[in-house]
Amino acid sequence: MSDFALTVLATLNKGPVTDSRETFPGIDSQVVQGAVTSLAARNMVTFKQIEKELWAPTAEGEDIIANGSHEIRLYDEVIKSLEGLKIADVAKVLGPSGKVGQQRAFKNGWVKKDGDKLVKGVDEAPVDVTKDQLTTIKSTGTLDDAKELNELKKRKLVTKTKLVSYSIEKGPEFALEIKKLDTDLTIEMLQSGTWKTSEFKPYNFSAEGINTNGGAFHPLNKVREEFRQIFFSMGFTEMPTNQYVESGFWNFDTLYVPQQHPARDLQDTFYLKDPVKALEPEDKTYWSHVRKVHEEGEFGSIGYRYPWKPEEATKLVLRTHTTSVSAAMLHKLAKNPGPARYFSIDKVFRNEAVDATHLAEFHQVEGVIADYNLTLGDLIGFMERYFSKMGVNQIRFKPAYNPYTEPSMEIFGYHEGLGKWVEVGNSGMFRPEMLESMGLPKDLRVHGFGLSLERPTMIKYAVSNIRELLGHKVSLDFIENNPAVRFEEALV
Ligand SMILES: *[C@@H]1O[C@H](CO)[C@@H](O)[C@H](O)[C@H]1NC(C)=O
Ligand SMILES: *[C@@H]1O[C@H](CO)[C@@H](O)[C@H](O)[C@H]1NC(C)=O
Ligand SMILES: *[C@@H]1O[C@H](CO)[C@@H](O)[C@H](O)[C@H]1NC(C)=O
Repeated sequence: MSDFALTVLATLNKGPVTDSRETFPGIDSQVVQGAVTSLAARNMVTFKQIEKELWAPTAEGEDIIANGSHEIRLYDEVIKSLEGLKIADVAKVLGPSGKVGQQRAFKNGWVKKDGDKLVKGVDEAPVDVTKDQLTTIKSTGTLDDAKELNELKKRKLVTKTKLVSYSIEKGPEFALEIKKLDTDLTIEMLQSGTWKTSEFKPYNFSAEGINTNGGAFHPLNKVREEFRQIFFSMGFTEMPTNQYVESGFWNFDTLYVPQQHPARDLQDTFYLKDPVKALEPEDKTYWSHVRKVHEEGEFGSIGYRYPWKPEEATKLVLRTHTTSVSAAMLHKLAKNPGPARYFSIDKVFRNEAVDATHLAEFHQVEGVIADYNLTLGDLIGFMERYFSKMGVNQIRFKPAYNPYTEPSMEIFGYHEGLGKWVEVGNSGMFRPEMLESMGLPKDLRVHGFGLSLERPTMIKYAVSNIRELLGHKVSLDFIENNPAVRFEEALV
């Protein structure tokens, strides 16, 4: 509470305040208002607001009060120039207000024309009525002569202002000191018994309270949730992708990425330092099938024909794709073969240079469909249905190469917003030697497809730099205030 509030109390002790502006001259009305409202909240005073309309000099009016009217200034200049003031020099000597001064001095008869000069029209120094009137207005707020007041208003020397002041009286809880009210009941108060005499601040039921900070889903998680719902609606079950570390065997060898493939280089993949090695898989038959397909071929494949090294297969890597999990799921499916639909949306890692659209980790959306005698036509039909669920109604396919699918197709979707075809995913049919070496029957075929989660999220939330979506540059406001995503508009 301000010192001024104490001044108000001390003043009230001597008698009521009828007009705060008169009692406390020079105190800003906001300060008075602050003090009386907070004292009134404690019932220490009661107050009423008084509004008065008063006249006050404008900046030009203040100038006249300080420096004299334009006409008197002109008169003074005429007196100073002994031989008369050249009319042409008026503006030079008096500036822009010289013209007004000249007109009014003429009207008053204070000066007259003598050829091209002005000379004095009265001998005795005239009274500066304008200045006197303004001085009166400044101290009293008005002028008795309404006609003159109106004249000053027309000359823009005065304006009307609203003055707020207060009449203040003692309230029921009046005191000379302001007691600090307690806001909380504390353990100490209960222990010492002071709660019995403490005065508490009244609870304000109209107070708006503090915003509760309830956490928020990251935009990636919102889009991920939409993707999950699409998969569930199409009969998919979610794969357990809760492991970031894989062996080279599951990440590469089972997918027939040869051991000398550039994707397996240190420049592309993160290898673990500790521990370095994984155990060999328990299924020794599968292990030997994989080795045989790599080295010499089997199940209709001619193989890569190179010496396959178990040491490469047992290296530990941060998984470069979630297809490693799909491979493990299909291997499990071989024990009880039949139609299945699996999906996963999770993190993968690549040793990439970070830029506006790439990070060393991102999310892969992956789907796998196993069924008897599936064809490429089935895959195309499925992808059309899948993408139409997220608002992408026109898609095209382009032949591509993947080590573990044949044939393989990149998928392009027509982006209505951008007005062009953009790549939306990759797909293909898993190679027979990959499936048969797991023990899956020959006529059980498997479609696989994948897309990124970041790309559609960036498009949906109009983020152009991936570092504003993930990492230390992310604005928490952005995360907290973005709405949930809906796929009524094209996402990708
Ligand atoms: C009075 O005139 C002086 C000199 O021209 C100027 O600096 C000052 O601002 C004037 N006073 C007011 C209140 O305008
Ligand atoms: C109570 O809270 C409302 C809303 O914030 C505020 O306008 C009002 O001045 C408060 N009342 C008191 C007595 O502090
Ligand atoms: C798949 O196709 C093969 C060859 O046409 C047929 O023998 C087999 O019964 C089919 N499998 C199923 C489950 O329809």
